[in-house]
Amino acid sequence: MTQFSIGLTFKTVTISFISTAKSVETRRMVGLPKSFETGIDAVDKVLPKGIPRNSLTILAGDLGTGKSVLMEQLLYSMLKVEKEPCIYMNFEGPPIALQQDMESFGWDIDRYLDSGQLRFLDCFSFRMEPTETPKYSHFVKDPKDLHSVTSALFTMMEEMKMMGRGAVFVDSLTEMFTLVQEERPLVFHMLDGVKSWRAKGPKERLVPFFCSHHTPLRAYADLDDLLFYVVDGIVDVRFNPGFADRGLLVKQFRIRKMKGAPHETHWVTFQVTASGIVEVPLPVPVLTSDKPRTSKKK
Ligand SMILES: Nc1ncnc2c1ncn2[C@@H]1O[C@H](COP(=O)(O)OP(=O)(O)O)[C@@H](O)[C@H]1O
Ligand SMILES: [Mg+2]
Repeated sequence: MTQFSIGLTFKTVTISFISTAKSVETRRMVGLPKSFETGIDAVDKVLPKGIPRNSLTILAGDLGTGKSVLMEQLLYSMLKVEKEPCIYMNFEGPPIALQQDMESFGWDIDRYLDSGQLRFLDCFSFRMEPTETPKYSHFVKDPKDLHSVTSALFTMMEEMKMMGRGAVFVDSLTEMFTLVQEERPLVFHMLDGVKSWRAKGPKERLVPFFCSHHTPLRAYADLDDLLFYVVDGIVDVRFNPGFADRGLLVKQFRIRKMKGAPHETHWVTFQVTASGIVEVPLPVPVLTSDKPRTSKKK
């Protein structure tokens, strides 16, 4: 090395400094836990090695099946057990609605909002034109403008130092698509947006995303195929069809897809209790003794 000119040595030093900085960064990322447990017993049971941090997961299903409750419980576990920063993108209701919903399960998020560990990217309140926004919330004036939503999201992630830690929750993608439903090409533009979130969030920063999506909407059937193809994880949530035929709503979920993690694929039956999601056995069918009346003699 010493026989080289000073200029060259300087260059070499500079280059090696940059590569050292990069490798420190990479080492830091490599050293981080690559997966995390959800903290929800029923979910952890079917995902024994957890959910990889580099995944964008969709919670897909009919209205009322429990997608939002699942997200809320995941969020609370991330905040309380993992102690990681979280961003909640609310499209369906104001931040206060989430606070109240979670409070009904005894999940108090006020202290996380106060400490800055949880922040809202509020894509709902533009409807009300609020005069003041709480400090834990970023108010998006026009959520139809996906570019402004995305740039606000990544600024927030930067501010909250979300790199290999933390998670982002989106409730719901359906509502985000609905904002631009009159302009069909824009709905597909939104899909591109989801792709770029996945590239910049889970893939580049190792920050998992969870997005709820109301799937039986026929308006988005073609979009759903593309979306499901793109994402890393799919959790289906449904009412068991056999029981639904008889008017009973029995909630079930299953892991349809989870890239890079072993998982069971059977349907898990659950109930929403006062303390969240709890696995229960599939009810025994109540057989009716009614027989067709055609053979009845007069
Ligand atoms: N705070 C609560 N306490 C008890 N049950 C609840 C509570 N919140 C929701 N549920 C139950 O969970 C169901 C699913 O709610 P939700 O997760 O909002 O559905 P989705 O987001 O799939 O439309 C509700 O219909 C209700 O039965
Ligand atoms: Mg919901």
